[in-house]
Amino acid sequence: MLRVESVWQRFGALEVLQDVHFELRAGEFVCLIGPSGCGKTTLLRIAAGLLKPSAGRVLFAGQPITAPRPEIGILFQQPNLLPYLSTRANVELPLALRGVPRSERRRAAQDALAQLGLADFAEVYPSQLSGGMAQRAALGRALVQNPAVLLMDEPFGALDAMTREYMQLELLDLWARTGKTILMVTHSLTEAVFMADRVLVLTARPSRLSVTLEVPLARPRRLEMVHSAEFGALVAQLRGYIGAPSA
Ligand SMILES: Nc1ncnc2c1ncn2[C@@H]1O[C@H](COP(=O)(O)OP(=O)(O)OP(=O)(O)O)[C@@H](O)[C@H]1O
Ligand SMILES: [Mg+2]
Repeated sequence: MLRVESVWQRFGALEVLQDVHFELRAGEFVCLIGPSGCGKTTLLRIAAGLLKPSAGRVLFAGQPITAPRPEIGILFQQPNLLPYLSTRANVELPLALRGVPRSERRRAAQDALAQLGLADFAEVYPSQLSGGMAQRAALGRALVQNPAVLLMDEPFGALDAMTREYMQLELLDLWARTGKTILMVTHSLTEAVFMADRVLVLTARPSRLSVTLEVPLARPRRLEMVHSAEFGALVAQLRGYIGAPSA
């Protein structure tokens, strides 16, 4: 579905990514972890077509990505909603920018908002949304074009622990219902093991992919699973790979 081929990135003298390569198979949920500043956001921006790598390329369904495309959605750590647009208008924005007719736009936005439990907040402005709701609206904006691949950059990092758990379960549910391919960056080893089929580990800069951890836990994932011995062993294994305390 998405294939990262020998991607290198440098910014001036700073070597960030070195020969990073991996593949996302259709319908997979993959998490990406690595030390702060190692190039995770950079890698997502390259995969989304927002940044041209210094060398290498990314293929979507066999075609090189040279610019953003509707089949690939991206969600950042902060919701980045436009304060002067309603929640609905924010969700519609990618379609409006593509010149999609108003009635079609509206229908797609209503669908996305309904899926995310925000139907009653369509006409509300971002300042009136809670943090979790704002991030759900941003997710709606990423989903409105019905992307096959969803790239997520620490999407729940700014949320309180309970909202975060709730959003994790909602995202897993949405993923199971829609069959999307997801690549999610997280700082949390627990979150990575809880969500992913596979966890990719980046080294410190200049970053390479060091190891991949397969997560054989049953689906659907349930919150109680984090207390199991199997879960603990997987988190410990991951912590061993990156040499960092668990989050
Ligand atoms: N446009 C840019 N120009 C110059 N340097 C950049 C640019 N974007 C990122 N960098 C640098 O590249 C490195 C990797 O940044 P990036 O944001 O990808 O890291 P990250 O792994 O996402 O970190 P964090 O976990 O803190 O979010 C950093 O040293 C950063 O300063
Ligand atoms: Mg980052």
